[in-house]
Amino acid sequence: MGRRAKITVVGAGHVGEHVAMFCAIKELGDVVLIDIIEDMPQGKALDMYEATPLEGWDSKIVGTNDYKDTADSDVVVITAGLPRKPGMSRDELLDKNAGIIKSVTEQVVKYSPNCIIIMVTNPLDAMTQLAWAVSGFPKNRVLGQAGNLDSARFRAFVAMELGVSVKEICAMVLGGHGDDMVPLPRFTTVSGIPITELIPPDRIEAIVQRTRVGGGEIVKLLKTGSAYYAPALATTEMVEAILKDQKRIQPCAALCEGEYGINGVYCGVPCLLGANGVEKIIELKLTDDELKALQASAGRVKGLIDKLKEFGYIK
Ligand code: NAI
Ligand code: 2OP
Repeated sequence: MGRRAKITVVGAGHVGEHVAMFCAIKELGDVVLIDIIEDMPQGKALDMYEATPLEGWDSKIVGTNDYKDTADSDVVVITAGLPRKPGMSRDELLDKNAGIIKSVTEQVVKYSPNCIIIMVTNPLDAMTQLAWAVSGFPKNRVLGQAGNLDSARFRAFVAMELGVSVKEICAMVLGGHGDDMVPLPRFTTVSGIPITELIPPDRIEAIVQRTRVGGGEIVKLLKTGSAYYAPALATTEMVEAILKDQKRIQPCAALCEGEYGINGVYCGVPCLLGANGVEKIIELKLTDDELKALQASAGRVKGLIDKLKEFGYIK
């Protein structure tokens, strides 16, 4: 008999604690929550574990400050680092978070050399590329969460617009996780019907624009940090797809090597997610305008990668 899956969540802040809790609730495996702040992850993990008997969730949750406890994890979710404050772009977090992600990745790889890394820390695509470069892992084992969240926002806004259940709505948002992301109305459907047949163009454009700045909308309201419920659940879905080898198709930050004319850059593209992580990048037939927007977004990510090279984080 095989052992239970082991999931490590690095960073026990708003996103990390919710990823840990959602993974436990869904019984995806045993969870280790690690942070640099002493005692805090231990306290949160104990509180979560004390909740498990109430609903009968069969997952262990432990908190720690020591990477030894993360050894042999199957999936490691990285949420360590600073979130943005009102008025900041995600890209402004580059310098601060790059140092954190470099050191975290080195520790993760040392103790879990066979894991799959899911990056959450912003600026998302650049941090995913940094983790991939530092880890030395094959590209399928390092991916980033953004598109699943951005698509969930798009789906929520379509449901609000039409007054229908969110269950019927599938959406696709590609590109880097910035305000230049590329929501694709042609590939967004309600029970299989493209929204282009259900919603007038000016309203679709308004929904697309609200999706692009959806993260900023929450930051403005919260004032002290960024969103965490939807980001954490979007991340948990990716953990589940990998651990259950579900072969789901979700937009993830993956290393493009020629797909969509993008080369050597992590960017949000539709991926087949299974036990091996990103098992395939799906190439949709895009219109010229859609492709141009995707390539422009990847170009912004490339600018951040160039900065990481200039600062010496990536060779
Ligand atoms: P938070 O401030 O609540 O939590 C961050 C945690 O990281 C803190 O507990 C901090 O002590 C910890 N940390 C800092 N340095 C560390 C290190 N070296 N090792 C271990 N832990 C360390 O922030 P929140 O809201 O949880 O966001 C975390 C990150 O996720 C931010 O960069 C944010 O921008 C990003 N984010 C990304 C999303 C996405 O869709 N990709 C969505 C939401 C947030
Ligand atoms: C979001 O989109 C902050 O990236 C995070 O909510």
